[in-house]
Amino acid sequence: MSIDLRNAVAVVTGAGSGIGRAAAHAFARRGARVVVTDLVDERAQTVADEVGERAVPAACDVTSLDDLEAVRKLALDRFGRIDLVMNNVGILAVGPVEDIPLEAWQRVVDVNLLGVVRSNLVFLPHLLEQGSGHIVNTASTAGLLPYGFDRLPYTATKHAVVGLSEALALYLRPRGIGVSCLCPAGVATNIVEQIAFYGKPAPPRGPNFPVMDADSVGELVAEGVTHDHFLILTAPEAAEELREHGADVDAYLSRLTKDAP
Ligand SMILES: NC(=O)c1ccc[n+]([C@@H]2O[C@H](COP(=O)([O-])OP(=O)(O)OC[C@H]3O[C@@H](n4cnc5c(N)ncnc54)[C@H](O)[C@@H]3O)[C@@H](O)[C@H]2O)c1
Repeated sequence: MSIDLRNAVAVVTGAGSGIGRAAAHAFARRGARVVVTDLVDERAQTVADEVGERAVPAACDVTSLDDLEAVRKLALDRFGRIDLVMNNVGILAVGPVEDIPLEAWQRVVDVNLLGVVRSNLVFLPHLLEQGSGHIVNTASTAGLLPYGFDRLPYTATKHAVVGLSEALALYLRPRGIGVSCLCPAGVATNIVEQIAFYGKPAPPRGPNFPVMDADSVGELVAEGVTHDHFLILTAPEAAEELREHGADVDAYLSRLTKDAP
């Protein structure tokens, strides 16, 4: 079920910066043709120019079904097929939970969770008809562990993306389609631009995983897709933390809250 990136056509959302940009480059280095999409037109254009003739840019807001449908049309018109869809966009609302307004929750859910849902509605019928392909959803270690209480809409939606991805893997594997879930720890990107701040900052409590450079994450994604790995972590320390969490959630939460003021 693993796909051969040498002949693949990939669509990447939020590919104008950071992890999406790095993944677009890593896919193209292996021979894939890439539709580089981003909310910001110029960013998509810049990254497509960097990648070269294997890439085509497209402005695409993942909160718009029309934009995603236009990307599907562009990919099929230009390259004739779609094999890999990377749903990579994520935004944050940060602050004490009591200070984060409902509108901020709605915005984060609309982008982080419903962005993936819209993409599935648009691209999955094509992959199912083809009987092959791969989906990568970018979640976060904050979608596996509870430490991100200072950014609860992010934590909740990234947990939702992990759950959605696991269930989707069960549904799609028998149909010849692979699913990966990228759960990065810290990555050096422009993610701070995607943050809306509310109230007085409350420092998060919990693991402080090492920060990785975006290009290395792009390589991990390309290798993960090639070898059909479901869970792609950027910090081995996260796997250790997950084992502790899974073994005894009560003990884990107690450890994280024990020194709380
Ligand atoms: N950087 C980290 O430390 C880190 C850690 C864990 C998970 N992640 C996840 O990785 C993903 C990529 O983040 P990044 O760190 O590369 O950030 P980034 O800010 O460098 O890149 C995100 C890109 O998404 C685009 N974007 C924003 N809203 C959009 C929308 N509605 N539609 C389409 N594009 C939109 C931005 O213009 C930007 O180019 C996100 O889902 C993020 O939650 C990042």
